[in-house]
Amino acid sequence: MINRLFFITTLSCILLFPVLSRALEFETDIQPILKKKCYKCHSGPKAKKGLQWDSSKVVAEWIKEGKDSVIIPGNPAKSEMYIKVEQGTKNHPDGMPPLRRGDGPVSEGQLKLIGKWIAEGAKMAGDAGGDKKMGEIQNWTNLTGQTIKAVFVSLSDKGVVLKLKGGKEITYPLSKLTAESQQQAKKLAGGK
Ligand code: HEC
Repeated sequence: MINRLFFITTLSCILLFPVLSRALEFETDIQPILKKKCYKCHSGPKAKKGLQWDSSKVVAEWIKEGKDSVIIPGNPAKSEMYIKVEQGTKNHPDGMPPLRRGDGPVSEGQLKLIGKWIAEGAKMAGDAGGDKKMGEIQNWTNLTGQTIKAVFVSLSDKGVVLKLKGGKEITYPLSKLTAESQQQAKKLAGGK
């Protein structure tokens, strides 16, 4: 019974608020790739160049400081991480992992994922919770009168990004929300 209820609730939630996109996250989407391909030389205190891919904290610092342009949020083409890994897929001598010393280059799909993660702003787990305004659950109602509870994350031209219970993020078109919910999104996005 409980399972069934859960299923129905989840299903109606998916139907009601279709998942258009989920922002990629370092810990969930990127670290598993790096673990296999990079940790051998880039983990722990002896990591090459101090680049500890196994430490979210260290990586977050590199991102924040823009250190050596390793990761420039929003710009994979200028990010050494992406440049090196792409070179790696082309057997370039400067590529990462280094020729013949690593576990082989990453796959095309993995390279794309790294590029997408950086392009989306190189999000780390918990980034969404960093803002003071986050964490408060609001009601969001769409034009068919259905309401869900979710935490406001951000507002983009694609719509409002909401975090559902359980941490899943969805992007919902603003135009499909009631005027009141649209107002709420704009207020949360603008009112610093
Ligand atoms: C076999 C060891 C090894 C592996 C595996 C390896 N690296 Fe490296 N990496 C190094 C070394 C050594 C350096 C330092 C090179 C230097 O200082 O010129 C380095 C430097 C880097 C840099 C800094 C480049 C710069 O110009 O600032 C990045 C970014 C990097 N690695 C990313 C990666 C990624 C991502 C992976 C996995 C896909 C990886 N590395 C796998 C050995 C490795």
